[in-house]
Amino acid sequence: MFLFYLVRRRSNIVKEMEKMKNKREEKRAQISEIRTKRAQEFDSSCPNWEFAQMIKEFRATLDCQPISITDPIEEHRICVCVRKRPLNKQELLKKECDVITVPSKSVLLVHEPKQKVDLTKYLETQAFRFDFSFDESSSNEMVYRFTARPLVETIFEGGKATCFAYGQTGSGKTHTMGGDFSGRAQNASKGIYAFASQDVFLLLNQPRYRSQDLEVYVTFFEIYNGKVFDLLNKKAKLRVLEDGKQQVQVVGLQERQVSCAEDVIRMIEMGSACRTSGQTFANASSSRSHACFQIILRRRGKLLGKFSLVDLAGNERGADTSSADRQTRMEGAEINKSLLALKECIRALGQNKSHTPFRESKLTQVLRDSFIGTNSRTCMIAMISPGMSSCEYTLNTLRYADRVKELSPHNGGGETQNQMETENEETETSGEGSGHNLSKDEEEDISPHMFNFREAMSQISEREEKVVEQLRELRQRMMTELDYLLGITEQPDYDLETFLSRAKDFVEASSRKLLSVRGMLVPVSD
Ligand SMILES: Nc1ncnc2c1ncn2[C@@H]1O[C@H](COP(=O)(O)OP(=O)(O)O)[C@@H](O)[C@H]1O
Ligand SMILES: [Mg+2]
Repeated sequence: MFLFYLVRRRSNIVKEMEKMKNKREEKRAQISEIRTKRAQEFDSSCPNWEFAQMIKEFRATLDCQPISITDPIEEHRICVCVRKRPLNKQELLKKECDVITVPSKSVLLVHEPKQKVDLTKYLETQAFRFDFSFDESSSNEMVYRFTARPLVETIFEGGKATCFAYGQTGSGKTHTMGGDFSGRAQNASKGIYAFASQDVFLLLNQPRYRSQDLEVYVTFFEIYNGKVFDLLNKKAKLRVLEDGKQQVQVVGLQERQVSCAEDVIRMIEMGSACRTSGQTFANASSSRSHACFQIILRRRGKLLGKFSLVDLAGNERGADTSSADRQTRMEGAEINKSLLALKECIRALGQNKSHTPFRESKLTQVLRDSFIGTNSRTCMIAMISPGMSSCEYTLNTLRYADRVKELSPHNGGGETQNQMETENEETETSGEGSGHNLSKDEEEDISPHMFNFREAMSQISEREEKVVEQLRELRQRMMTELDYLLGITEQPDYDLETFLSRAKDFVEASSRKLLSVRGMLVPVSD
């Protein structure tokens, strides 16, 4: 008995000691976290402390006024926004430098670290303007309020709405769309999918819609390497068919009827789990796929409106075209193609063009009906990582978003300039605020370099459109003529001479046309 008591006491003591040890370790971890944070601010052992210092001094000269809940919600047919996420734990540990500043509700600055030939370090600050710009303190609710929320009503009025999360892997697309990862698991009720669904049910219960016999359905699918998989049906592979009237159909896609926001949240959880099941973080195919969550409104079975919310593949994957692995290269090319096609489709929508190049990718093909019609509205949220090591990808993301926005009609193209202006000289002089006022008055001149760059970009894009148009036309003609020519040779007693002369005409005419296209392919000089 005594022995037993001793043993128990001992085990209690051991437990106590373990507890104390754990507490000590916890405390140590806390202290080291605080240290890391402090080091971020003051420590000159930070690998890029000079840049960090310059950026800090730059910021001290700004009067930042981030977006607030009281700001007016504007109505845009095409709305393009940007969201900066906070530095994450690993980045803080590595003492990464935060190179993004959000001075106001529509401007975002990128402080690009540069070095002169004589090794002097300086910052090149570029300003981008969007409809809204969210800094690291903005919550998912806040982002939703200004981006997807204004689009919800569209679907009650028989329209189509789309909202895209675009950006590099790890920049916060899934966090924003699917729900935040503040705990260990993702909270599906705190993402744009769920917020939009909640508002759909709120509207549905308003007097003006209550009596309309409306039903709500959701679908959730993934497009991976040009193939569609149903996330609400164990990733079943689906076929996409297009009928003679260009109506696109995803055959067998499960439309689940939902009757309250909680139903929807369960679907989001189910689909998200299905999307990431069997993946390790390092090998996550989810970063190489587009996920599309749709809220569909039907009136007595007939489609009324549709809201498609898309968590796009990481845009850096599109650049993965030099990888040694063929599969990765192919995936990269497919992603690249779909992101380019998406941009073109949104541009076509913004310009009210009759032709929408939706066939260029599975993504745009599946979303085809959202890009046509007068009652279609879209919103793109460009997500960016704040770290210095992501700077290049961040600039790519911002340029893409800028391109989508630039051509939207409410801007008339003139307002959305980005500038390559600020040059922060050496550390010693950087506190003086020289050249820092660009974001204060927001009425900057465009540098000649930027102007040329923009001119060149718009020339290239115009030319690209023409080339594509001509190639399409050429394909059509050549195919018709070739079918005819080869058809001749299949006749039992065909006339050789007629065939040869027609074939010669065909080859000559085609060569002329191809050469004329070739003439349009010379690089635009800058
Ligand atoms: N605004 C944010 N606030 C806090 N953490 C964020 C935010 N955005 C992203 N994160 C975190 O960053 C990590 C990567 O985000 P994720 O949404 O998975 O990126 P993506 O889908 O773009 O690859 C996640 O751990 C997520 O919780
Ligand atoms: Mg993701």
